[in-house]
Amino acid sequence: MRVWVPIDAAARALGADEVAAAVRACGQQPIRNGSRGMVWLEPLLEIEIDGIRHGFGPVEPDEVAAILADPRGHAKALGPVEELPWMRAQTRLTFARVGITDPLSLEDYKAHGGLSGLKAAIATPDRIIPEVTDSGLRGRGGAGFPTGIKWATVAKAEAAQKYIVCNADEGDSGTFADRMLMEGDPFTLIEGMAISGIAVGATRGYVYIRSEYPDAIRAMRAAIDIARVAGVLGASVLGSDHRFDMEVRVGAGAYVCGEETSLLNSLEGKRGVVRAKPPIPALQGLFGQPTVVNNVLSLATVPWIMANGAAAYAAYGIGRSRGTMPLQIAGNVKYGGLCEVPFGRSLGEIVDQIGGGTASGRPVKAVQVGGPLGAYFPRALFDTPFGYEEFAGKDGLVGHAGIVIFDDSADMMALARFAMEFCAVESCGKCTPCRVGSIRGVETIDRIAAGDGDAIPLLTDLCNTMKWGSLCALGGFAPYPVMSALTHFPDDFTGSAPMGR
Ligand code: NAI
Ligand code: SF4
Repeated sequence: MRVWVPIDAAARALGADEVAAAVRACGQQPIRNGSRGMVWLEPLLEIEIDGIRHGFGPVEPDEVAAILADPRGHAKALGPVEELPWMRAQTRLTFARVGITDPLSLEDYKAHGGLSGLKAAIATPDRIIPEVTDSGLRGRGGAGFPTGIKWATVAKAEAAQKYIVCNADEGDSGTFADRMLMEGDPFTLIEGMAISGIAVGATRGYVYIRSEYPDAIRAMRAAIDIARVAGVLGASVLGSDHRFDMEVRVGAGAYVCGEETSLLNSLEGKRGVVRAKPPIPALQGLFGQPTVVNNVLSLATVPWIMANGAAAYAAYGIGRSRGTMPLQIAGNVKYGGLCEVPFGRSLGEIVDQIGGGTASGRPVKAVQVGGPLGAYFPRALFDTPFGYEEFAGKDGLVGHAGIVIFDDSADMMALARFAMEFCAVESCGKCTPCRVGSIRGVETIDRIAAGDGDAIPLLTDLCNTMKWGSLCALGGFAPYPVMSALTHFPDDFTGSAPMGR
Protein backbone atom coordinates (compact mmCIF):
# COMPACT_ATOMS: atom_id res chain seq x y z
CA MET A 1 0.00 0.00 0.00
CA ARG A 2 1.46 3.40 -0.96
CA VAL A 3 0.54 6.34 1.28
CA TRP A 4 1.27 10.06 0.83
CA VAL A 5 1.23 12.83 3.46
CA PRO A 6 2.26 16.35 2.33
CA ILE A 7 5.44 17.96 3.61
CA ASP A 8 4.27 21.43 2.45
CA ALA A 9 4.50 24.12 5.16
CA ALA A 10 0.74 24.85 5.11
CA ALA A 11 -0.05 21.14 5.52
CA ARG A 12 2.53 20.87 8.30
CA ALA A 13 1.02 23.86 10.06
CA LEU A 14 -2.28 21.98 10.00
CA GLY A 15 -0.82 18.78 11.47
CA ALA A 16 0.69 16.81 8.55
CA ASP A 17 3.78 15.77 10.54
CA GLU A 18 1.59 14.24 13.25
CA VAL A 19 -0.45 12.43 10.59
CA ALA A 20 2.77 11.12 9.01
CA ALA A 21 3.92 9.87 12.45
CA ALA A 22 0.58 8.09 12.90
CA VAL A 23 1.03 6.42 9.49
CA ARG A 24 4.48 5.22 10.55
CA ALA A 25 3.05 3.93 13.84
CA CYS A 26 0.80 1.71 11.71
CA GLY A 27 3.86 0.19 10.03
CA GLN A 28 3.65 2.19 6.77
CA GLN A 29 6.30 4.58 5.43
CA PRO A 30 4.47 7.62 3.99
CA ILE A 31 5.84 9.43 0.94
CA ARG A 32 6.03 13.14 1.80
CA ASN A 33 4.63 14.89 -1.29
CA GLY A 34 3.92 18.57 -1.95
CA SER A 35 0.45 19.98 -1.38
CA ARG A 36 -2.29 19.59 -3.99
CA GLY A 37 -3.30 23.14 -3.08
CA MET A 38 -6.63 22.36 -1.38
CA VAL A 39 -5.69 23.98 1.90
CA TRP A 40 -9.09 23.39 3.51
CA LEU A 41 -8.50 19.63 3.15
CA GLU A 42 -5.04 19.61 4.71
CA PRO A 43 -3.62 17.40 6.03
CA LEU A 44 -4.72 15.47 2.93
CA LEU A 45 -3.76 11.81 3.24
CA GLU A 46 -3.60 9.86 -0.02
CA ILE A 47 -3.72 6.08 -0.42
CA GLU A 48 -3.23 4.14 -3.62
CA ILE A 49 -6.20 1.86 -4.25
CA ASP A 50 -6.19 -0.24 -7.45
CA GLY A 51 -3.53 2.06 -8.90
CA ILE A 52 -5.53 5.25 -8.22
CA ARG A 53 -4.74 7.79 -5.52
CA HIS A 54 -7.68 8.33 -3.18
CA GLY A 55 -7.84 11.31 -0.82
CA PHE A 56 -8.83 11.58 2.84
CA GLY A 57 -9.05 14.90 4.58
CA PRO A 58 -8.68 16.84 6.66
CA VAL A 59 -7.21 13.95 8.65
CA GLU A 60 -6.60 13.85 12.40
CA PRO A 61 -3.75 11.61 13.61
CA ASP A 62 -6.15 9.43 15.62
CA GLU A 63 -8.15 8.68 12.47
CA VAL A 64 -5.19 7.26 10.55
CA ALA A 65 -5.35 3.64 11.82
CA ALA A 66 -9.04 3.30 10.88
CA ILE A 67 -8.45 4.86 7.43
CA LEU A 68 -5.56 2.49 6.67
CA ALA A 69 -7.59 -0.50 7.93
CA ASP A 70 -10.67 0.26 5.79
CA PRO A 71 -9.97 3.13 3.35
CA ARG A 72 -13.11 2.84 1.25
CA GLY A 73 -15.52 2.81 4.16
CA HIS A 74 -14.14 5.79 6.09
CA ALA A 75 -16.19 8.97 6.53
CA LYS A 76 -13.22 11.14 5.46
CA ALA A 77 -12.91 9.33 2.10
CA LEU A 78 -13.05 11.87 -0.74
CA GLY A 79 -12.59 9.52 -3.70
CA PRO A 80 -9.92 9.78 -6.42
CA VAL A 81 -7.97 13.01 -5.87
CA GLU A 82 -7.72 13.83 -9.57
CA GLU A 83 -11.53 13.65 -9.83
CA LEU A 84 -12.21 16.25 -7.11
CA PRO A 85 -13.91 19.36 -8.60
CA TRP A 86 -11.01 21.62 -7.51
CA MET A 87 -8.51 19.45 -9.40
CA ARG A 88 -10.73 18.92 -12.44
CA ALA A 89 -11.20 22.69 -12.82
CA GLN A 90 -7.47 23.20 -13.36
CA THR A 91 -4.89 23.14 -16.12
CA ARG A 92 -1.74 22.27 -14.25
CA LEU A 93 1.34 23.07 -16.31
CA THR A 94 3.71 24.86 -13.92
CA PHE A 95 2.31 22.84 -11.01
CA ALA A 96 1.99 19.60 -13.00
CA ARG A 97 4.04 17.57 -10.52
CA VAL A 98 3.34 19.43 -7.27
CA GLY A 99 1.49 17.13 -4.87
CA ILE A 100 2.17 14.11 -7.04
CA THR A 101 5.90 13.44 -6.71
CA ASP A 102 8.30 13.13 -3.81
CA PRO A 103 9.91 16.60 -4.07
CA LEU A 104 13.43 15.32 -3.38
CA SER A 105 13.37 12.22 -5.55
CA LEU A 106 15.12 12.93 -8.84
CA GLU A 107 13.95 9.52 -10.10
CA ASP A 108 10.32 10.43 -9.38
CA TYR A 109 10.91 13.79 -11.09
CA LYS A 110 12.26 12.12 -14.22
CA ALA A 111 9.47 9.52 -14.19
CA HIS A 112 6.98 12.41 -14.39
CA GLY A 113 8.61 14.18 -17.34
CA GLY A 114 11.31 16.06 -15.44
CA LEU A 115 14.50 17.09 -17.31
CA SER A 116 12.92 16.67 -20.76
CA GLY A 117 12.82 20.48 -21.14
CA LEU A 118 16.49 20.75 -20.23
CA LYS A 119 17.40 17.97 -22.66
CA ALA A 120 15.51 19.78 -25.43
CA ALA A 121 17.30 23.02 -24.51
CA ILE A 122 20.71 21.33 -24.68
CA ALA A 123 19.86 19.76 -28.03
CA THR A 124 18.88 23.11 -29.59
CA PRO A 125 20.18 25.98 -27.43
CA ASP A 126 19.46 28.53 -30.16
CA ARG A 127 15.77 27.64 -29.97
CA ILE A 128 15.36 28.47 -26.25
CA ILE A 129 14.80 32.23 -26.50
CA PRO A 130 12.53 32.00 -29.59
CA GLU A 131 10.46 29.30 -27.86
CA VAL A 132 10.12 31.28 -24.64
CA THR A 133 9.26 34.41 -26.63
CA ASP A 134 6.71 32.63 -28.82
CA SER A 135 5.06 31.03 -25.78
CA GLY A 136 4.01 34.51 -24.67
CA LEU A 137 5.31 33.86 -21.14
CA ARG A 138 5.38 37.11 -19.13
CA GLY A 139 7.02 37.83 -15.77
CA ARG A 140 4.93 36.08 -13.14
CA GLY A 141 6.34 38.17 -10.26
CA GLY A 142 3.80 40.82 -11.17
CA ALA A 143 5.10 43.21 -13.79
CA GLY A 144 4.34 40.90 -16.72
CA PHE A 145 7.39 41.84 -18.81
CA PRO A 146 7.90 39.34 -21.68
CA THR A 147 10.39 36.75 -20.42
CA GLY A 148 11.85 35.98 -23.86
CA ILE A 149 12.65 39.65 -24.52
CA LYS A 150 14.36 39.96 -21.12
CA TRP A 151 16.46 36.88 -21.88
CA ALA A 152 17.32 38.18 -25.36
CA THR A 153 18.63 41.42 -23.81
CA VAL A 154 20.92 39.46 -21.47
CA ALA A 155 22.00 37.08 -24.23
CA LYS A 156 23.06 39.98 -26.47
CA ALA A 157 25.04 41.75 -23.71
CA GLU A 158 28.79 41.19 -23.85
CA ALA A 159 30.34 40.14 -20.54
CA ALA A 160 32.74 37.57 -19.10
CA GLN A 161 30.24 36.63 -16.40
CA LYS A 162 26.43 36.66 -16.43
CA TYR A 163 24.00 35.59 -13.76
CA ILE A 164 20.53 34.08 -13.30
CA VAL A 165 18.80 35.38 -10.19
CA CYS A 166 15.55 33.85 -9.08
CA ASN A 167 13.36 36.19 -7.05
CA ALA A 168 11.80 34.00 -4.36
CA ASP A 169 11.20 36.87 -1.94
CA GLU A 170 7.46 36.29 -2.21
CA GLY A 171 6.33 39.16 0.01
CA ASP A 172 2.82 39.86 -1.26
CA SER A 173 0.15 39.17 1.31
CA GLY A 174 -2.08 36.28 0.27
CA THR A 175 0.51 34.75 -2.07
CA PHE A 176 2.20 31.38 -1.62
CA ALA A 177 2.72 29.91 -5.11
CA ASP A 178 6.50 30.36 -5.07
CA ARG A 179 6.72 28.67 -1.69
CA MET A 180 4.51 25.76 -2.75
CA LEU A 181 6.50 25.24 -5.93
CA MET A 182 9.87 25.27 -4.16
CA GLU A 183 8.64 22.91 -1.45
CA GLY A 184 6.67 20.65 -3.77
CA ASP A 185 8.79 20.48 -6.94
CA PRO A 186 12.19 22.16 -6.44
CA PHE A 187 13.82 20.39 -9.40
CA THR A 188 11.51 22.27 -11.79
CA LEU A 189 12.98 25.57 -10.66
CA ILE A 190 16.52 24.20 -10.92
CA GLU A 191 15.77 22.94 -14.43
CA GLY A 192 14.28 26.31 -15.42
CA MET A 193 17.30 28.20 -14.13
CA ALA A 194 19.71 25.87 -15.95
CA ILE A 195 17.77 26.38 -19.19
CA SER A 196 17.88 30.16 -18.65
CA GLY A 197 21.65 29.95 -18.03
CA ILE A 198 22.19 28.06 -21.28
CA ALA A 199 19.99 30.53 -23.18
CA VAL A 200 21.81 33.68 -22.10
CA GLY A 201 25.31 32.31 -21.43
CA ALA A 202 25.19 32.55 -17.63
CA THR A 203 27.04 29.98 -15.56
CA ARG A 204 25.98 30.96 -12.08
CA GLY A 205 22.57 31.23 -10.44
CA TYR A 206 21.14 32.41 -7.13
CA VAL A 207 17.76 31.75 -5.58
CA TYR A 208 16.98 34.60 -3.21
CA ILE A 209 14.45 33.19 -0.73
CA ARG A 210 12.78 35.12 2.07
CA SER A 211 13.80 34.01 5.56
CA GLU A 212 10.14 33.40 6.42
CA TYR A 213 10.26 30.28 4.20
CA PRO A 214 12.50 27.84 6.14
CA ASP A 215 10.93 24.74 4.54
CA ALA A 216 11.44 26.10 1.03
CA ILE A 217 15.03 27.02 1.86
CA ARG A 218 15.68 23.46 3.10
CA ALA A 219 13.99 21.87 0.08
CA MET A 220 15.85 24.01 -2.45
CA ARG A 221 19.24 23.46 -0.79
CA ALA A 222 18.71 19.69 -0.65
CA ALA A 223 17.49 19.56 -4.26
CA ILE A 224 20.48 21.60 -5.50
CA ASP A 225 22.86 19.16 -3.76
CA ILE A 226 21.07 16.17 -5.33
CA ALA A 227 21.07 17.82 -8.77
CA ARG A 228 24.78 18.55 -8.51
CA VAL A 229 25.65 14.96 -7.54
CA ALA A 230 23.49 13.69 -10.43
CA GLY A 231 25.24 15.96 -12.96
CA VAL A 232 22.21 18.17 -13.62
CA LEU A 233 24.24 21.08 -12.28
CA GLY A 234 27.99 21.62 -12.40
CA ALA A 235 30.81 21.75 -14.92
CA SER A 236 28.88 19.71 -17.48
CA VAL A 237 25.10 20.04 -17.37
CA LEU A 238 23.72 16.56 -18.21
CA GLY A 239 27.02 15.68 -19.87
CA SER A 240 26.91 18.65 -22.27
CA ASP A 241 29.53 21.36 -22.69
CA HIS A 242 27.31 23.81 -20.77
CA ARG A 243 28.31 24.78 -17.25
CA PHE A 244 25.80 25.96 -14.67
CA ASP A 245 25.69 25.92 -10.90
CA MET A 246 23.55 27.69 -8.34
CA GLU A 247 23.00 28.32 -4.65
CA VAL A 248 20.39 29.63 -2.22
CA ARG A 249 20.71 33.00 -0.52
CA VAL A 250 18.37 33.96 2.31
CA GLY A 251 16.79 37.41 2.69
CA ALA A 252 16.36 39.18 5.98
CA GLY A 253 12.69 40.11 5.96
CA ALA A 254 12.39 43.39 4.03
CA TYR A 255 9.41 43.55 1.65
CA VAL A 256 11.29 45.94 -0.63
CA CYS A 257 13.95 43.28 -1.28
CA GLY A 258 11.38 41.69 -3.61
CA GLU A 259 12.02 44.69 -5.86
CA GLU A 260 14.71 43.45 -8.22
CA THR A 261 17.40 46.11 -7.76
CA SER A 262 16.98 46.12 -4.01
CA LEU A 263 17.27 42.33 -4.10
CA LEU A 264 20.51 42.62 -6.09
CA ASN A 265 21.93 45.02 -3.51
CA SER A 266 20.98 42.58 -0.77
CA LEU A 267 22.64 39.70 -2.68
CA GLU A 268 25.80 41.78 -2.94
CA GLY A 269 25.79 42.15 0.84
CA LYS A 270 24.59 45.76 0.79
CA ARG A 271 21.54 47.38 2.37
CA GLY A 272 18.37 46.58 0.45
CA VAL A 273 17.81 49.99 -1.14
CA VAL A 274 16.29 50.40 -4.59
CA ARG A 275 18.62 51.39 -7.45
CA ALA A 276 17.52 53.86 -10.10
CA LYS A 277 16.76 52.30 -13.50
CA PRO A 278 18.29 52.55 -16.09
CA PRO A 279 20.59 50.73 -16.15
CA ILE A 280 18.28 47.71 -16.14
CA PRO A 281 19.59 44.55 -14.47
CA ALA A 282 19.52 42.77 -17.83
CA LEU A 283 22.51 44.96 -18.74
CA GLN A 284 24.01 45.84 -15.34
CA GLY A 285 22.67 43.62 -12.62
CA LEU A 286 24.42 41.49 -10.00
CA PHE A 287 27.94 42.83 -9.39
CA GLY A 288 27.35 45.09 -12.39
CA GLN A 289 27.05 42.14 -14.80
CA PRO A 290 24.18 41.25 -17.18
CA THR A 291 21.62 39.40 -15.09
CA VAL A 292 18.31 37.66 -15.64
CA VAL A 293 16.08 38.42 -12.66
CA ASN A 294 12.91 36.35 -12.82
CA ASN A 295 10.27 35.19 -10.40
CA VAL A 296 10.08 31.51 -9.35
CA LEU A 297 6.99 30.85 -11.46
CA SER A 298 8.45 32.38 -14.64
CA LEU A 299 11.55 30.17 -14.42
CA ALA A 300 9.63 27.08 -13.29
CA THR A 301 7.29 27.33 -16.31
CA VAL A 302 10.10 27.25 -18.86
CA PRO A 303 10.80 23.46 -18.60
CA TRP A 304 7.17 22.79 -19.58
CA ILE A 305 7.46 25.17 -22.54
CA MET A 306 10.71 23.59 -23.74
CA ALA A 307 9.29 20.09 -23.35
CA ASN A 308 5.93 20.76 -24.98
CA GLY A 309 6.62 23.65 -27.33
CA ALA A 310 5.70 27.33 -27.38
CA ALA A 311 2.49 26.78 -29.34
CA ALA A 312 1.11 24.35 -26.74
CA TYR A 313 1.61 26.96 -24.01
CA ALA A 314 0.36 29.89 -26.07
CA ALA A 315 -2.79 27.93 -26.89
CA TYR A 316 -4.06 28.81 -23.42
CA GLY A 317 -5.07 32.28 -22.29
CA ILE A 318 -6.52 35.49 -23.69
CA GLY A 319 -5.12 38.52 -25.53
CA ARG A 320 -1.53 39.15 -24.49
CA SER A 321 -1.93 37.02 -21.35
CA ARG A 322 -0.90 33.60 -22.62
CA GLY A 323 -0.71 30.30 -20.77
CA THR A 324 -1.81 29.61 -17.24
CA MET A 325 -1.56 31.40 -13.92
CA PRO A 326 -1.36 29.69 -10.53
CA LEU A 327 -4.02 31.64 -8.61
CA GLN A 328 -3.64 31.90 -4.87
CA ILE A 329 -7.05 32.29 -3.27
CA ALA A 330 -7.07 33.44 0.35
CA GLY A 331 -8.72 35.65 2.94
CA ASN A 332 -12.35 35.15 3.93
CA VAL A 333 -13.01 32.30 1.47
CA LYS A 334 -14.66 28.91 1.70
CA TYR A 335 -12.17 27.01 -0.49
CA GLY A 336 -8.77 28.66 -0.27
CA GLY A 337 -5.61 27.43 -1.92
CA LEU A 338 -3.71 27.20 -5.16
CA CYS A 339 -5.56 26.75 -8.44
CA GLU A 340 -3.74 26.91 -11.80
CA VAL A 341 -6.03 27.96 -14.64
CA PRO A 342 -5.58 29.57 -18.06
CA PHE A 343 -5.86 33.35 -18.13
CA GLY A 344 -9.35 34.54 -19.00
CA ARG A 345 -11.54 33.30 -16.18
CA SER A 346 -13.66 36.13 -14.83
CA LEU A 347 -12.97 37.38 -11.32
CA GLY A 348 -16.52 36.38 -10.38
CA GLU A 349 -15.93 32.76 -11.50
CA ILE A 350 -12.74 32.65 -9.46
CA VAL A 351 -14.34 34.02 -6.32
CA ASP A 352 -17.79 32.41 -6.45
CA GLN A 353 -17.22 29.15 -8.30
CA ILE A 354 -13.62 28.16 -7.56
CA GLY A 355 -13.42 29.83 -4.13
CA GLY A 356 -17.04 29.06 -3.20
CA GLY A 357 -17.68 32.55 -1.77
CA THR A 358 -16.82 33.62 1.74
CA ALA A 359 -16.00 31.33 4.68
CA SER A 360 -18.27 33.45 6.87
CA GLY A 361 -21.21 32.88 4.51
CA ARG A 362 -21.76 36.65 4.28
CA PRO A 363 -21.80 38.46 0.89
CA VAL A 364 -18.47 39.26 -0.75
CA LYS A 365 -17.76 42.98 -0.49
CA ALA A 366 -14.36 43.34 -2.11
CA VAL A 367 -11.51 41.32 -3.56
CA GLN A 368 -7.95 42.55 -3.49
CA VAL A 369 -5.94 41.21 -6.40
CA GLY A 370 -2.16 41.52 -6.66
CA GLY A 371 -0.97 41.76 -3.06
CA PRO A 372 -1.03 44.62 -0.59
CA LEU A 373 -0.47 47.08 -3.42
CA GLY A 374 -3.28 45.70 -5.58
CA ALA A 375 -6.65 47.34 -6.18
CA TYR A 376 -9.88 46.34 -4.42
CA PHE A 377 -12.49 45.09 -6.87
CA PRO A 378 -16.19 45.40 -6.00
CA ARG A 379 -18.77 42.90 -7.24
CA ALA A 380 -19.68 45.35 -10.04
CA LEU A 381 -16.30 44.54 -11.66
CA PHE A 382 -16.52 40.77 -11.24
CA ASP A 383 -16.96 40.30 -14.99
CA THR A 384 -13.32 41.42 -15.51
CA PRO A 385 -11.40 38.58 -17.20
CA PHE A 386 -8.18 37.57 -15.44
CA GLY A 387 -5.50 39.09 -17.67
CA TYR A 388 -2.78 41.75 -17.46
CA GLU A 389 -4.34 44.29 -19.80
CA GLU A 390 -7.90 43.52 -18.66
CA PHE A 391 -7.06 44.27 -15.04
CA ALA A 392 -4.95 47.33 -15.91
CA GLY A 393 -7.97 48.62 -17.84
CA LYS A 394 -9.92 48.62 -14.58
CA ASP A 395 -7.13 50.43 -12.67
CA GLY A 396 -6.01 47.17 -11.09
CA LEU A 397 -3.20 44.69 -11.47
CA VAL A 398 -2.88 40.94 -11.75
CA GLY A 399 0.44 41.10 -9.89
CA HIS A 400 1.56 37.73 -8.56
CA ALA A 401 -2.08 36.52 -8.67
CA GLY A 402 -2.81 36.73 -4.97
CA ILE A 403 -6.58 37.01 -4.53
CA VAL A 404 -7.78 38.03 -1.06
CA ILE A 405 -11.50 38.02 -0.38
CA PHE A 406 -13.39 40.21 2.12
CA ASP A 407 -17.01 39.96 3.24
CA ASP A 408 -19.42 42.84 3.86
CA SER A 409 -18.03 43.50 7.33
CA ALA A 410 -14.78 44.88 5.81
CA ASP A 411 -14.05 48.52 6.58
CA MET A 412 -12.55 49.85 3.34
CA MET A 413 -11.20 53.05 4.89
CA ALA A 414 -9.31 50.96 7.45
CA LEU A 415 -7.92 48.82 4.61
CA ALA A 416 -6.89 51.96 2.69
CA ARG A 417 -5.13 53.23 5.80
CA PHE A 418 -3.37 49.87 6.13
CA ALA A 419 -1.97 50.22 2.58
CA MET A 420 -0.43 53.61 3.42
CA GLU A 421 0.84 52.36 6.76
CA PHE A 422 2.35 49.27 5.10
CA CYS A 423 4.12 51.51 2.59
CA ALA A 424 5.44 53.75 5.38
CA VAL A 425 6.82 50.77 7.29
CA GLU A 426 8.35 49.01 4.29
CA SER A 427 9.61 52.06 2.34
CA CYS A 428 13.36 51.91 1.66
CA GLY A 429 13.42 55.69 2.12
CA LYS A 430 15.18 56.54 -1.11
CA CYS A 431 12.53 58.76 -2.69
CA THR A 432 10.33 61.46 -1.16
CA PRO A 433 6.89 60.61 -2.63
CA CYS A 434 6.99 57.21 -0.96
CA ARG A 435 9.00 57.95 2.20
CA VAL A 436 7.08 61.10 3.16
CA GLY A 437 3.92 60.58 1.12
CA SER A 438 2.96 57.34 2.82
CA ILE A 439 3.16 58.95 6.28
CA ARG A 440 1.13 61.94 5.09
CA GLY A 441 -1.28 59.41 3.57
CA VAL A 442 -1.94 57.79 6.95
CA GLU A 443 -2.49 61.21 8.50
CA THR A 444 -4.83 62.30 5.71
CA ILE A 445 -6.97 59.18 6.04
CA ASP A 446 -7.14 59.79 9.78
CA ARG A 447 -8.45 63.29 9.02
CA ILE A 448 -11.15 61.82 6.77
CA ALA A 449 -12.01 59.33 9.49
CA ALA A 450 -12.40 62.23 11.90
CA GLY A 451 -15.05 63.72 9.59
CA ASP A 452 -12.91 66.12 7.51
CA GLY A 453 -14.35 65.59 4.02
CA ASP A 454 -12.04 68.31 2.58
CA ALA A 455 -9.15 65.90 3.04
CA ILE A 456 -10.51 63.58 0.33
CA PRO A 457 -9.25 65.65 -2.66
CA LEU A 458 -5.95 65.99 -0.80
CA LEU A 459 -5.71 62.20 -0.55
CA THR A 460 -6.42 61.90 -4.28
CA ASP A 461 -3.68 64.45 -5.05
CA LEU A 462 -1.25 62.65 -2.79
CA CYS A 463 -2.01 59.32 -4.45
CA ASN A 464 -1.32 60.81 -7.89
CA THR A 465 2.00 62.22 -6.68
CA MET A 466 3.01 58.85 -5.24
CA LYS A 467 1.84 56.94 -8.32
CA TRP A 468 3.75 59.03 -10.83
CA GLY A 469 6.65 60.29 -8.70
CA SER A 470 7.86 57.18 -6.85
CA LEU A 471 11.00 55.41 -7.94
CA CYS A 472 9.69 51.85 -7.61
CA ALA A 473 6.47 49.85 -7.40
CA LEU A 474 6.18 50.06 -3.60
CA GLY A 475 5.43 53.78 -3.56
CA GLY A 476 4.01 53.69 -7.08
CA PHE A 477 1.37 51.05 -6.37
CA ALA A 478 0.41 51.91 -2.77
CA PRO A 479 -2.21 54.35 -4.19
CA TYR A 480 -4.01 51.47 -5.97
CA PRO A 481 -5.70 49.97 -2.90
CA VAL A 482 -6.36 53.47 -1.55
CA MET A 483 -7.91 54.90 -4.70
CA SER A 484 -9.89 51.77 -5.51
CA ALA A 485 -11.33 51.74 -1.98
CA LEU A 486 -12.21 55.42 -2.28
CA THR A 487 -13.72 55.08 -5.76
CA HIS A 488 -15.75 51.92 -5.25
CA PHE A 489 -16.70 52.28 -1.59
CA PRO A 490 -17.15 56.05 -0.99
CA ASP A 491 -19.68 55.38 1.78
CA ASP A 492 -16.89 53.90 3.89
CA PHE A 493 -15.05 57.25 3.80
CA THR A 494 -17.53 59.24 5.84
CA GLY A 495 -15.98 58.69 9.25
CA SER A 496 -16.48 60.73 12.36
CA ALA A 497 -13.93 59.38 14.83
CA PRO A 498 -10.12 59.17 14.73
CA MET A 499 -9.13 55.70 13.57
CA GLY A 500 -5.75 55.10 15.15
CA ARG A 501 -6.01 51.43 14.24
P1 NAI B 1 9.08 46.96 -14.18
O1 NAI B 1 7.94 47.15 -15.10
O2 NAI B 1 9.97 48.11 -13.88
O3 NAI B 1 10.04 45.82 -14.77
C1 NAI B 1 9.65 44.58 -15.13
C2 NAI B 1 10.85 43.75 -15.49
O4 NAI B 1 11.24 43.95 -16.82
C3 NAI B 1 12.10 44.06 -14.68
O5 NAI B 1 12.79 42.86 -14.45
C4 NAI B 1 12.90 44.96 -15.60
O6 NAI B 1 14.27 44.96 -15.30
C5 NAI B 1 12.60 44.31 -16.90
N1 NAI B 1 12.81 45.15 -18.09
C6 NAI B 1 12.22 46.34 -18.37
N2 NAI B 1 12.62 46.78 -19.58
C7 NAI B 1 13.45 45.84 -20.09
C8 NAI B 1 14.16 45.68 -21.33
N3 NAI B 1 14.10 46.60 -22.28
N4 NAI B 1 14.90 44.58 -21.49
C9 NAI B 1 14.97 43.64 -20.53
N5 NAI B 1 14.33 43.72 -19.35
C10 NAI B 1 13.57 44.81 -19.15
O7 NAI B 1 8.45 46.35 -12.85
P2 NAI B 1 9.09 45.98 -11.45
O8 NAI B 1 9.29 47.22 -10.65
O9 NAI B 1 10.25 45.06 -11.61
O10 NAI B 1 7.92 45.12 -10.79
C11 NAI B 1 6.71 45.70 -10.40
C12 NAI B 1 5.72 44.61 -10.10
O11 NAI B 1 6.15 43.83 -9.01
C13 NAI B 1 4.36 45.11 -9.74
O12 NAI B 1 3.53 45.02 -10.85
C14 NAI B 1 3.89 44.18 -8.63
O13 NAI B 1 2.80 43.42 -9.06
C15 NAI B 1 5.03 43.25 -8.43
N6 NAI B 1 5.27 42.93 -7.03
C16 NAI B 1 5.37 41.61 -6.71
C17 NAI B 1 5.57 41.18 -5.42
C18 NAI B 1 5.64 39.72 -5.09
O14 NAI B 1 5.63 39.35 -3.91
N7 NAI B 1 5.73 38.84 -6.09
C19 NAI B 1 5.72 42.16 -4.35
C20 NAI B 1 5.61 43.54 -4.79
C21 NAI B 1 5.40 43.89 -6.09
FE1 SF4 C 1 12.24 53.22 -1.83
FE2 SF4 C 1 9.59 53.72 -1.73
FE3 SF4 C 1 11.09 55.09 -3.40
FE4 SF4 C 1 10.65 52.46 -3.82
S1 SF4 C 1 9.14 54.07 -3.91
S2 SF4 C 1 12.61 53.58 -4.03
S3 SF4 C 1 10.59 51.71 -1.69
S4 SF4 C 1 11.27 55.10 -1.15
